[in-house]
This record gives sequence, C-alpha cells and structure tokens, in this order.
Amino acid sequence: MIIEPRTRGFICLTAHPTGCEQNVINQIEYVKSKGTIDGAKKVLVIGASTGFGLASRITSAFGCGASTIGVFLEKGPSAGRPASPGYYNSAAFEKHAAEAGLYAKSINGDAFSKEIKQQTIDMIKEDLGQVDLIIYSLASPVRTNPNTGKRHKSVLKPIGDVFSNKTVDFHTGNVTEVTIQPANEDDIANTVEVMGGDDWEMWIDEMKAAGVLAEGAQTYAYSYIGPKLTEPVYRKGTIGAAKDHLEATAFKIQDKLADINGKAVVSVNKALVTQASSAIPVIPLYISLLYKIMKAEGIHEGCIEQIQRLYADRIYGSDMKLDDKGRIRIDDWEMREDVQAKVDELWAIATTENLSDIGDLKGYSDDFFNLFGFKVDGVDYAADVNEVVEVPSLK
Ligand code: NAI
Ligand code: NA
Repeated sequence: MIIEPRTRGFICLTAHPTGCEQNVINQIEYVKSKGTIDGAKKVLVIGASTGFGLASRITSAFGCGASTIGVFLEKGPSAGRPASPGYYNSAAFEKHAAEAGLYAKSINGDAFSKEIKQQTIDMIKEDLGQVDLIIYSLASPVRTNPNTGKRHKSVLKPIGDVFSNKTVDFHTGNVTEVTIQPANEDDIANTVEVMGGDDWEMWIDEMKAAGVLAEGAQTYAYSYIGPKLTEPVYRKGTIGAAKDHLEATAFKIQDKLADINGKAVVSVNKALVTQASSAIPVIPLYISLLYKIMKAEGIHEGCIEQIQRLYADRIYGSDMKLDDKGRIRIDDWEMREDVQAKVDELWAIATTENLSDIGDLKGYSDDFFNLFGFKVDGVDYAADVNEVVEVPSLK
C-alpha cells in the first residue's frame, strides 16, 4: 500500500515502515561512526522502541556490541493497517542486529505488569543468564499498578497556580496563549504513580530476586529539568513531581544494589521532539526556539547523539560529572547560560508572524513526522510498501 501521514492533533495515526527503517539505519550509522564503546555486553532496555530508549538500544548494540532485550508496548501491523512506529523501528532494529551478528529479542506488552516482568526475567535467564545494564525509558500516560490493580492516569498540569503562557500549534505555526488550571492532589498522586520511580524499583527488585543482575550491574532512568519558562508546567508541575520521585528512587535502588556493587543513576536529558514531548503544552514553542539556537551554535543533538555521548563520555567514560543531586547532566549544552539567555530573548518576541524566522518550526515539524517514518531523506513515499513487517522475534 501507499502510506501517508494522517495526523490528529499531537499524534500521527499512520507510520511508514521504510522511513522507520531508514531512521534506525541512520542511528546505527551514527553510532558506528563514533567508534566502539567499552561498555555493557548484555542489556535490557525498558521502553526500547522509540525516542531515548531506542537510541539506548542502538548505542548498546552498535556502540558496545551488546546483546539486547527490548521491552515496549506497540501496535503490530495487519493487512491495510500500518503498525505503530515503535513496532517498525523494532523490526528494523532486530533485522540489522541480526545482520551484524548481534543477539536481539523483543517483548511487546505492558511493562508495568507482573507478567511482562516475569516473561522478561525468563528470557534473560534462558538466553543471557544475567544483564549488566538496564535502561528504564518508559513514557506513558497510564499505568495499572500490579499490586493494587488500580489504573492511574498522568496529567500535565501546574501545581498551585493557574499557568498562562505562549504555545505553538506546530502544524499551523499559530502562536497562542494557553491557560492551564492547576492540578488537584489526586492528579499529582496519579502522575507520580505513572511516571515516578515505583515501577523502575519493582523491575530492579524482581530482577535482583531472580538473580538476573550481574555483579556491578548498572541501571539508568531518564529525567528532564528544562528552563524557568517551562517550570510551572514541567519541572514544578505534576510531571516534575513524578521526576522528583524518579530521581529519589535512584538512591533507593542504589542502596539495594550495594551488595552487588551496582549503580542506579538518573540522566537528565535534552528536550527533544518525541511522541511524549509533543503532547506537553508550551514545550513545542520552547523546542522550536531551542533548536534554532543550538543548530546555529553547532551543538544541536537528537536522541542518538545524546545517548551516544551519554554512554561514551559519562556512563562508560572517565567521569559521570554528577550534579549536586547525583544526576548526570547530558542536558549540559541545552542549559548553557548563553543558549538559555537567547531562548528568553526570542520567547519574549515570538509571534505567529515571526516564528518561522526566529524559531525552527520546520525542524520541529520535520522531526515530528520523522518519528512516524515520514519526510525521511532518501525514502520513496510514492512506492508501494508492504505494511505487514513483523518484528522477527515476535513472529
Ligand atoms: P517515547 O514516547 O519516545 O518512548 C516511550 C517508550 O515507552 C516506547 O518504547 C513505548 O513503547 C514504551 N512504553 C510506553 N508505555 C509502555 C508500557 N505500558 N509498557 C511497555 N512499554 C511502554 O518517549 P521518550 O521521550 O523517549 O521518553 C523516555 C524517557 O525520557 C521518559 O522518562 C521521558 O520523561 C524522558 N525524557 C524525555 C525528554 C524529551 O524531551 N522527549 C527529555 C528528557 C527526558
Ligand atoms: Na524511549
């Protein structure tokens, strides 16, 4: 079939298998171009199909030469109905891993559940014995807590006060004022349930009890801080409360891993266009200004550049350069004072009329379509493609 993008608000309902594969190939080539990393050899990535998690899987495999198990929740294809992009990404990843002689298997299901944790542990036991690196990179709007059976929904709201600021609809370029009502106590608790550290801790607890953590095993989860501008809706909002919880959980897990000389650390990453971040108000305007500035300075990075640098320079480099809260700061270039000062300047003057000049709206929009395998260089979108592309290990 011929597959075209069909968007509804912040989501795209279709995905292109060839475009997704090309994205994966480009990421593999980038990692290979940076040379080998003396790092993990057996890796579990939770949230492995898109964004930072996919980049982590690719860096583990093609940078470190690692065997990888990837867990994700994606929709498979059926005749006439394309799969979700993460499914096609994983199909492409497994195909290219196999060609490179690298072990790669995937598990498609709810990572929050006991069943998927058990299935993953069984697969590790059977195929790898133990793992030495666990990347936790889930982004989800909902979670059913397996201990209580309760389903929680996360929200993106400020805490305390009503928040009003500019935002942009990146499809149209319209800059408007958005007003968000503050969260109530339930909203905060629910968001912490979904995006906090509880599930990360469960994964590590269960893996440790099952004996699948190697001596010296390390685990990393990803967080975000960002500028003052987005603080009310991000870091000091409901999602920020969840990130506080996630960051605090790193210390709890670290203590639990002391006897195997393990490590649990949070890496604060750069703001990037992913399915998760497109849904957060105000962030798309911030990102489009940030991209413009970082590209002009020659310091722009996508997920793969971020994660390759995280592995090479920090996790397996000579110095993790932890901040005063024990976090890795691979958002260091985004947070540079001169970069943020320029964002502030442009933010103050941004309007519908000038945004395509002062901001990188095109970069934002292209990145968004790229997530779904569209507008990828070198792909012939007029060509008939088979939409039924399976992840080899899930067949
Ligand atoms: P993403 O939406 O690209 O990836 C989410 C992953 O989680 C996918 O692999 C998806 O299949 C998986 N997933 C979601 N629900 C699942 C479930 N119930 N069971 C199994 N898998 C499930 O998101 P992104 O942006 O890569 O986010 C990953 C982490 O990085 C998050 O913690 C996010 O807060 C953090 N981060 C994101 C930044 C950004 O600007 N995008 C910046 C800094 C940190
Ligand atoms: Na991810």
